[in-house]
This record gives sequence, structure tokens and C-alpha cells, in this order.
Amino acid sequence: MESGLEKSGGGEMSGFPIVRMRRLRENAALRNMLTEVTLEPRHLILPVFVCPGEGISEPIPSMPGVCRWSADRAPEVIEPAVDAGVTAFLFFGLPTYKDADGTGAFAPDQPVQRALRFLRGKYPDIVLIADTCMCEYTSHGHCGHLTDDGRVDNDATLELLSKAALSQAESGAHFVAPSDMMDGRVGAIRSALDGAGMSSVGVISYAAKLASAFYGPFRDAAGSAPSFGDRKSYQLPPANPREIIRDALMDADEGADMLIVKPAVPCLDIAVRLRAGTDLPLVGYVVSGEYMMLRSAISSGALDGERALLEYHIAVKRSGCDLVITYCATELARLLRETAGR
Ligand code: PBG
Repeated sequence: MESGLEKSGGGEMSGFPIVRMRRLRENAALRNMLTEVTLEPRHLILPVFVCPGEGISEPIPSMPGVCRWSADRAPEVIEPAVDAGVTAFLFFGLPTYKDADGTGAFAPDQPVQRALRFLRGKYPDIVLIADTCMCEYTSHGHCGHLTDDGRVDNDATLELLSKAALSQAESGAHFVAPSDMMDGRVGAIRSALDGAGMSSVGVISYAAKLASAFYGPFRDAAGSAPSFGDRKSYQLPPANPREIIRDALMDADEGADMLIVKPAVPCLDIAVRLRAGTDLPLVGYVVSGEYMMLRSAISSGALDGERALLEYHIAVKRSGCDLVITYCATELARLLRETAGR
């Protein structure tokens, strides 16, 4: 970015009263033309929870406004989003069974695989992303294979994750999104995909995923809370920014196509630092706890819903994220269209 030219703004002519910043904000047209950061429907990714069975649309108690859908009814959540301009979807599944190694994560008849097959055929113009993790599929709720003494075995888990990613890719995912936080998973998944002739399927890694309290409502929604202990031995420590950046950039080195930062607003500083450290597309994930903070404050009347949603998500873009995963995607996309140019 060094141009060799000094930017103007220094020196004695730079201050008040010569400079009056408010000249730039005098009327709406001026403010509109000078808008630096934009959020558009095409920047939004909507998470979708898919469940077994048929004809099901089941409201999620911990996340008012969000439902679990059986694959056949997924169009009811996809189509309104597409109509509003949202073109990408992130799938989570509630399996029909759980076991110690989460083998449902790579069973072709499970909800995510079924939904991907169905939707890939039905909507050729949308982007399908599958969350790749074991916690929804394991009986113990941890994100991988457990050793006899109850620790998550990193390298054994890489094999399970690779199988899950392959199964999702075979079912029609354009991208797999590993959210487990094992070391080496991006490289392992990349070579599994390439080895199976699926080099066009990409990896969007949860690169900076903190061990966060803000996933609480999601764990109820997906039935994925750990039955003992916590995820601190694999998810990242919120107080360690240097460690977070090192861990995230390793995913870039292993061949990730995009990096996710999560939770979004509690990690804005991390997004700023990653933006400076990589040219990969960055994705901020406004997680279930952030969704519920907004929802609760809006429904109690404490916040103006439209303004709060716009400002919150713009902050994620402003930090350097190109895309935003949010449960509000459809609502926000509609709002963005209504308020365009306002
Ligand atoms: C799976 C996964 C989680 C989320 C995304 N993928 C839960 C977790 O790590 O416990 C959280 C998403 C949200 O809170 O909206 N590992």
C-alpha cells in the first residue's frame, strides 16, 4: 500500500476550523455516496438445521425464529432467502442415531446428505456448504474420537472428519466447513478430497473458532452439547490473540479456501488482524448466542430491531470480513433491499 506519497491530512492545515468533518455528512445523498463499507444480500450465508423424516418444520425452543427442517421441506427456508438475494447456505444435521465415533456423519442416508442431494439437483444456482464436525453425531457430544481416558484423539479424528467431508462432497456440497478444531484437519480433508477426484470441492475452515459461551443456544438446537467436560482442549482460548492468529493461519497454509472467524463481534480484533495477514476471503459467523442477544434485546423493546441488525452486521464487514454467516440472513437481506439508498 506504500505509494511513496504522504497522505494529506497532516500539518497545520488539517485541523478545525479549516477542516470541518461534518461537511461530509450534511445530507442523506452525500452520506449515501460516501458510504465506505457495504453489506449486501450476496454477502450473507444462512445456516439451516436439517432433521430426519418428512414433512417436518419444528421451531427450535432455544432460538426463536429458527426451525429444524426435514430435507423435503428445506425449500420453505431456502426459497424466501433466495427471493431476498441470499445465495449461500450452511447445513447442520440432526442424525437418526449417535455412536461413539459419530459414524452418522458419513452415512449417506443422514439428513445433511439427503438435503444436499435434493437441493443440489433442485437449485443449481445456490452455494451449498456443509458444516463438518463430529459433535452432532457422537454419543458423548465431543468433536472427535475419544481415547480411553476421555481425551479427544487428534489424529484418529482426522480420519473421521475426512470421511464426513468426502460423504458431504459426494452428496453435493460445494464446500465443506470443518468446525472441530483438530490440528491438521484442513490438510487431511484437502488430500482426502483430492484423492477421491473431488478437487473442485473447497474447504471453508473455522480457522479462528473460540471456546465460547456464545454457542449455547446452538448446542440445544443441534443436540450437540458435550456430555462431560468442555471443548477447551481443542477450541481456542479467547484471551490468547497470538495463539489464535497462529492457529488460524495454519489453516491457510494447509489449503483452506476461506477462513471463518467465530463468534463474530467478540472476535472483531481477530478479523482485523487476519485481514492484514492473508488475502483469503474471510467469513464472520454471528453465532447463536449473538443471535439471541439481538433477538432478546429487540423483542423486549430495548433495541430498535432494524437499526441494531444493520449496525451489528456492518461491524463484521467493517472489521475485514467479506461474508457473514447469520441466522438473520433472510430478514437482513430484505431489510437491506428496503433500506438501499436510504
Ligand atoms: C460444531 C459447531 C458449533 C457451532 C458451529 N459448528 C457448536 C460448537 O462448537 O459447540 C456453533 C454455531 C452457533 O453457535 O451458532 N462444532
